[in-house]
Amino acid sequence: MSKTISGFSKFSKTEKIDWLVKTFFANDITAANTLKQYWSSDEELQELHDEFIENTVSNYYLPYGVAPNFVINEEQYVIPMAVEESSVVAAASLVAKFWSTRGGFQAEVISTKKIGQVHFIYEGDVDELRNYFNNTKEDLLEATESITKNMRKRGGGILELELRDKTEDLDNYYQLHVTFDTKDSMGANFINSCLEAIAATFKKEGIQIVMSILSNYVPECLVRAEVSCKIEDLGDANPELFAKKFKQAVDIANVEPHRAVTHNKGIMNGIDAVVIATGNDFRAVEAGAHAYASRSGKYKSLTNCEVKDGMFKFWIEIPLALGTVGGLTALHPLSKLSLQMLQNPSAEELMKIVAVAGLAQNFAALRALTTTGIQQGHMKMHLSNIIKQLGATEKERDYLLEYFVDKQVSHSAVVDVYNNLNL
Ligand code: MEV
Repeated sequence: MSKTISGFSKFSKTEKIDWLVKTFFANDITAANTLKQYWSSDEELQELHDEFIENTVSNYYLPYGVAPNFVINEEQYVIPMAVEESSVVAAASLVAKFWSTRGGFQAEVISTKKIGQVHFIYEGDVDELRNYFNNTKEDLLEATESITKNMRKRGGGILELELRDKTEDLDNYYQLHVTFDTKDSMGANFINSCLEAIAATFKKEGIQIVMSILSNYVPECLVRAEVSCKIEDLGDANPELFAKKFKQAVDIANVEPHRAVTHNKGIMNGIDAVVIATGNDFRAVEAGAHAYASRSGKYKSLTNCEVKDGMFKFWIEIPLALGTVGGLTALHPLSKLSLQMLQNPSAEELMKIVAVAGLAQNFAALRALTTTGIQQGHMKMHLSNIIKQLGATEKERDYLLEYFVDKQVSHSAVVDVYNNLNL
């Protein structure tokens, strides 16, 4: 059967599902039921979700949890997290509690600049181009007037507009490099609209505009979060050894890209979960964070550690382009609720909270990795998922949980014990 379809987007939701069921599931209605069971019974809410994207046929749920007891710059926070990985919220909660009795997290925003570029090709004389740019610069800014008006009222807007010669990298390639401050909005639409208005005004014979788009590389939209305490307060039986091994783990991630990627993935476990819960763009944050981790030409850790003069210090520096107004933040009821739970933060405050979530997650991972290993904790969390998948009764579940208290959990071990149960 052909899988090509035209006019699919014009089908109703039910027609789309019927087509999927017919084409991929041999008309088995179970597939339709699986999709439909995630529809909201609240029609208005479902309509809202339907309209987020094209061709919506269902909703894809992620668990939404909260990690309490975070103390950031002396303020208390409960951090909402949307994530499917079983250990993430538990790790965040544990670490939040741990540091809450050791001075909490300190966080500061270093810079808030965002970048957008008009990329173009020009084959003529470079001095003529420079003159043309200098003569039209005011008009280019003027062209964005109606778009930037409100942003300027909020203290943001275009900070800088430069002509950059990139011909050493690519023949005849130049760009208008624009720096923005988008205040509490992530600013993607704002930046792209400004760039397109600038490009339309800049365009003339001989200047071939290739594209106008924001950059998700935002090394100057940077936040730093830190924890520190006396080594003796680290709470381990041998705190000196703990601190030493912990620092070694960070040092390894700084010199070994294979480890750095996993190390940073763990950080992103915490970061993405909060970014998603607050309706922000986690792909943008991911792309920017990993590019930043490679800024020296080598992919490195996003966190650092210092063990010196009896003190343990652990910190993260990460670029985060986040918004607390606009986009999905006000549209998605759960994003709105998340921001309320975070006491309606500004974008800068949210940057601090998200950086802390990343640092906490990395602390949890490195603490486990350099002491007990992570599988013990992970597999315990995973145990209840396996038990659920097996369809165990309550009695069987209780038995399995008890049985694996002091044993190594693996999928096959649980299945074996389950299959031999005689309750
Ligand atoms: C798993 O999702 C994340 C970790 O692998 C991170 C790390 O290794 O640092 C535990």
